[in-house]
Amino acid sequence: MKVLVTGGLGYIGSHVTTLLLERNHEVIILDDLSNTSLSVLNSIENITQKKPFYEQINLCDAAAVKALFDRHNDVAGVIHFAAHKAVAESVAQPLKYYHNNIEGLLNLLDLLVPKKIPLLFSSSCTVYGNADELPITEHHPVKAAASPYGATKQMGEQIITDCCNAQAGFHAILLRYFNPIGAHTSAQIGEAPQGVPQNLIPYLVEAAAGKRPALQIFGTDYPTPDGSCIRDYIHVMDLADAHIVCLAHLLEKKQTSPTEIYNVGSGKGHSVLEVVTAFEKATGISVPTKIVGRRKGDVLQAYADTTKINTQLGWKTKYSLEEALRSAWAWEQRRNN
Ligand code: UD1
Repeated sequence: MKVLVTGGLGYIGSHVTTLLLERNHEVIILDDLSNTSLSVLNSIENITQKKPFYEQINLCDAAAVKALFDRHNDVAGVIHFAAHKAVAESVAQPLKYYHNNIEGLLNLLDLLVPKKIPLLFSSSCTVYGNADELPITEHHPVKAAASPYGATKQMGEQIITDCCNAQAGFHAILLRYFNPIGAHTSAQIGEAPQGVPQNLIPYLVEAAAGKRPALQIFGTDYPTPDGSCIRDYIHVMDLADAHIVCLAHLLEKKQTSPTEIYNVGSGKGHSVLEVVTAFEKATGISVPTKIVGRRKGDVLQAYADTTKINTQLGWKTKYSLEEALRSAWAWEQRRNN
């Protein structure tokens, strides 16, 4: 099947592209290189020994996106990753986020909806806000967004749901990711933030490598067993596999409703301090840390109830937290070489 992956050279997109090629899908990557580089394309080719079709396009360029679809009129499904994702930046530059994340999605939907090309949308557990109940099921209410980034995910979900309801035969799956971490088992692709990393693992590995000052632990006064926040960390390889399973579900027209929502996480909660200890144990490398105050906007705890995707689609995780952390370290070492 021919599959279009928007943002296919980004962190999650590159791992999904690799798996798609390994499963013999034909892949078209659309990426504007705003937060990645062309070297990722070479790495994908090295891993898979296959050549995806690539075009440097920004989804906000409606004419260019339409022309791409005119050239590839046999696209069977789309996986949409292309979006900005830095929470703090979204607070400082909301219009950048609303323009890029929403306009890009609208341009895509303009083409997909009339042709009834199914869509897999990358959403986030951020839509749940500070959870009322744990583990978080898909029935948990969506809370007011804490950032423009989170708002674009909520709006994206709503816009897609409205389109699915309006156009019979147009189907979508919304995947609510918890915290993706780690890198490809080959260590040839991984997360490569530009500038100072904002997320835990990218900063942790750079601090472990001596490239950054001590990892700041954002708060140890939360009402959790060790005082630090709890998250659900999922190996990016497991997350990529969930996309393959969901895409098959869409392409085989197995949906029971036009829009389906699945949490994708490990189902386990780990505190920030537990992650640091697990990293040190898994790699034998010590991480310099410094306890500082809480980070504005952080939720206390978030971990997934994954029963729905486990039972309905038969997907489950294969990798442990330690394996994910080891892969993140292997990738960091490779980047430094
Ligand atoms: C949040 C969202 C996630 C979204 C992501 C985008 C929630 C629950 N999660 O992830 O859906 O995709 O933003 O960026 O809303 N930490 C430190 N020191 C650091 C960095 C992080 O202690 O230098 C801590 C944070 O306080 C947090 C944990 O590590 O407790 C994970 O943080 P991070 O990796 O930034 O992800 P989230 O904020 O959970």
